[in-house]
Order: sequence, then C-alpha cells, then structure tokens
Amino acid sequence: MIRASAPGKIILLGEHAVVYGRPAIAVPVHQVHASAEVTAKPERAAGEIYLEAPATATHVWLHQADPEEPVALAVRLTLEACHATDPPAFDLLVSSEIPMAAGLGSGAAVSVAVVRAVSQFLNVDLPLAEQSNLVYQVEKIHHGTPSGIDNTVVTYGSPVYFVRGRPPSTFHPGGRFRFVIGDTGRPSPTAEAVRQVRESHAADPAGFDALFDEISRLVEQGKAALEAGDAPALGHLMDRNQEQLAAIGVSCDELERLAQAARAQGALGAKLSGGGLGGNMIALTPAGMTARVSDALEAAGAARLIVTEVAP
Ligand code: PMV
Repeated sequence: MIRASAPGKIILLGEHAVVYGRPAIAVPVHQVHASAEVTAKPERAAGEIYLEAPATATHVWLHQADPEEPVALAVRLTLEACHATDPPAFDLLVSSEIPMAAGLGSGAAVSVAVVRAVSQFLNVDLPLAEQSNLVYQVEKIHHGTPSGIDNTVVTYGSPVYFVRGRPPSTFHPGGRFRFVIGDTGRPSPTAEAVRQVRESHAADPAGFDALFDEISRLVEQGKAALEAGDAPALGHLMDRNQEQLAAIGVSCDELERLAQAARAQGALGAKLSGGGLGGNMIALTPAGMTARVSDALEAAGAARLIVTEVAP
C-alpha cells in the first residue's frame, strides 16, 4: 500500500488581489492533512481503478466517474503525466482532516495527496512544479479562475510569496510566528466570493485597482516583516489587510466578531483567510498567549480552532 499526504494552508496577506496579478503570502498548516492511499489490485484487469472519498460520498470506478469529479480528474491527469496508458488495477482511498469550504486549502491538499500517491504507485517521480501544475488544473473546477496560490503552497509545503503566472518563490521567516485559526462555522463559498469581487471590480475598476495596489504594498511590507521576525509589524499589516478585505466586500459579521475577540485578548493582528464570506479567521498571537486567544475565540462562537506556527 502506498500512502501520501499534503498539508492545509492559510493565506497571511493578499487574497483576492492575487487573482488580479498582485502578490500574496501563504504558509502551510502542518497540523492538518489530506491523505491518499493506493492499494494494488493484481486480481483485477489492468486499468480497473476504484475511487473512494467518503467525505464527498464518492464511491465510483474511474471510467464511470463524472469528468468534473475532482478526485477522478486528479487521477486521470496523473496517469497522463506518468504516461500510464494501461496502469495496473488499484483502489484509491482519500481522506482529509482539513475542514472543507473553509479557506484552508482542503481541495488542493486532497489533489496533491492523490497526485503523489498515484505517481508513486507508478514509480514516477514527478517534480514539485509538475505536481502543482496538475493540481492547478483540478483547482479550476473548484474556483473557476484560481490564482494558483493554493496548489503552490500546499505542494511546496513552505511559506510562499506568490505572483500569478510567475515561478513561486519560497522563503524563510526570520522568527517564530504563532497563529490561532478560528472557524466561523459558516462555509466560505470561494467561487461565489471571487465572482462577487469580479463584478465589483468591473463596476469600479479604478477604485478596486487602487485597493489592490494598496494590498500589494502591504504584502511587500509583510514579507519584510516575516523575514525580519517582526511579529508586531506583521500583525499591524494583517489588521490593515482585513480592513481592505472588508472594503472589497468579502468579510462578514462572524469573521469580524472572531477578529475583534482575538484582538481584545492581545492578538497582534487578525484577518479572514482565503475566499472569505465565512470560513476561517487567523489571529497572530504573542508567545504564551495562544490559550487566552483560543478561549476568547471559543467564547465568541468559533466552531473549531487550530494553532499553528511559522518558524525559521
Ligand atoms: O478560499 P481559498 O482558500 O480557496 O482561497 C482563495 C484565495 C483567493 O485569492 C480568494 C482566490 C484565489 O484563487 O487566489
């Protein structure tokens, strides 16, 4: 049996503007994973591949799967990339601890795990850039017009400074940053949020481009703060980015409530992460204060908490 996995992710700064060519910064969340297991089935004829993803009620033979079914698409693209025209029969079991529709990269992580497990089963060593590119093809089904940041950070598993269409650049933080991630419990409809922003941008291109440019400057400052290990500076930038995201129209009451609760208990900064309109809020928290901020988030209605850290 072959097992592969991939982490979740959060976007620290720059979501939405990244769809319009501005930079963004994302980091992996290694506390939660998606996994894929491939079990050879030599008793079956070649090419007979069975897919199981209980979380999405997927139990289907590959050749009968909907062409848009993300797991099936990830398998087909991997077989093609590995030039496996007549692959040995196998079962694929997909599972994930990453909450779905929450801005934590669950779709991308499932696809990366599938690409890894299937290519390893075929004894093909796909380079990270190619894994990421295959997953991007699958992401198009989830998002419509994804920037590519999710597949990149989840595939590389390290902090990335990302600009659409450019080779990703990974970087090393200069200090330890702790984040408490609080789930509003309200699903984040990324495709809907991206569509809403597209319409608002079309109605006011100058206003939205100016906002995206401001976000772009803030992301550059954020990268410098991360590299310098300057948590107070990064927290301040997160708060400002949250104001811009609210102005863009992708915040909501639940996200604001969690962000306020975290700040009131000493978080250095807090913002939504990902598509917004629900999903997760992230709070940058000083050393020794994660328990206090976590308690405050729970009291403010967080449905689930994850504590993660970005370290050199
Ligand atoms: O909601 P998520 O985690 O899939 O993040 C979406 C990030 C956006 O910038 C809103 C869209 C994108 O494709 O970059």
